[in-house]
Amino acid sequence: MHRLTIDPQRDIQSYGADLDRFAAALKEGQLVAIPTETVYGLAADATSGIACARIFEAKGRPSFNPLISHVADLPTAKTHGVFGTLSSKLAEAFWPGPLTLVLPKKEGSTICDLATAGLDTVALRVPAAPVMRRLSELAGVPIAAPSANKSGRISTTSAQDVIDDLGSAIDHVIDAGPCPIGVESTIVAIVDNNAVLLRPGGISREEIERALGQELHLLQSTSNDEAPAAPGMLSSHYAPAAAVRLDAEEVRTGEALLSFGASTVRGAHEALQTINLSTTGSLREAAANLFKSMRQLDQSGAKTICVAPIPMEGIGEAINDRLRRAAAPRPD
Ligand code: TXA
Ligand code: MG
Repeated sequence: MHRLTIDPQRDIQSYGADLDRFAAALKEGQLVAIPTETVYGLAADATSGIACARIFEAKGRPSFNPLISHVADLPTAKTHGVFGTLSSKLAEAFWPGPLTLVLPKKEGSTICDLATAGLDTVALRVPAAPVMRRLSELAGVPIAAPSANKSGRISTTSAQDVIDDLGSAIDHVIDAGPCPIGVESTIVAIVDNNAVLLRPGGISREEIERALGQELHLLQSTSNDEAPAAPGMLSSHYAPAAAVRLDAEEVRTGEALLSFGASTVRGAHEALQTINLSTTGSLREAAANLFKSMRQLDQSGAKTICVAPIPMEGIGEAINDRLRRAAAPRPD
């Protein structure tokens, strides 16, 4: 496996020859783990069915669950998705950044059917972290990349977590240190001229509603796991090996504790291990620490991780969404 370490402070152009090699690897159908500002992505050429099939295989991901395609800029995104007033507004406000738009797939788009799971829509994102955009430019193709973790498990926010989780299944890793946001992009679908929140994420609902000048619609939760309204929005996801118990008021025997701010959970000193997501009560810091902390507590040997209440405002909605899925009953 080839590993390239890059300094996120340095100009991406200065990694010329190194990135050329990774772009060539993508064009050859290989898998490259690539950091973004949200989480690490497991990337392949989105125009190649064979390359995308390797993503599903490496993750153990069901093939009805489509992938996000990453592109360098809005003009390129417009060659793959049909933009209207609302989607253009959101793209202009938040790209590059942690927003994914689900739009009607444009006729002539080169994104393969496996990447979109055969749907007539496409998920597009222009990430803020420049390495994915640069590789997309160099390779001359959109880059399909789900989060770089085994399907259903916790997303990865460092190169080492990627290697621990996916190991030999990947050909190359680019290491840019920890991801600054730490939860995945917010996903908004434009359906019949309405903006629908499919997944809370790095950009808060409030920020999006302000840019739109109207409220986001919420996904009707009439679907079940056999027929998810948004594929991939399965109830059990982001799951550590340990059970997860939310809104804990006390620590029970044998539990590890994920705490937040100054809130006190009874019996905290008896926890097998405690991690505070943000001692100052910053939700941004808590999001950046969330997945790494869940991995660490999972390794403490505790059968259950209990979690202190986390406020629902701002990025707290995304944190609570991930925790709720981590705590959901698991399929066998
Ligand atoms: O921050 C992120 O979004 C990261 C980085 C790597 O970009 N990616 C990520 O990908 O979280 P993934 O595959 O783990 O989650 C993408 C979600 C999936 O739940 C998938 O079902 C949904 O997006 N999705 C993709 N295409 C869709 C479509 N056409 N319609 C509805 N949902 C879609
Ligand atoms: Mg994922």
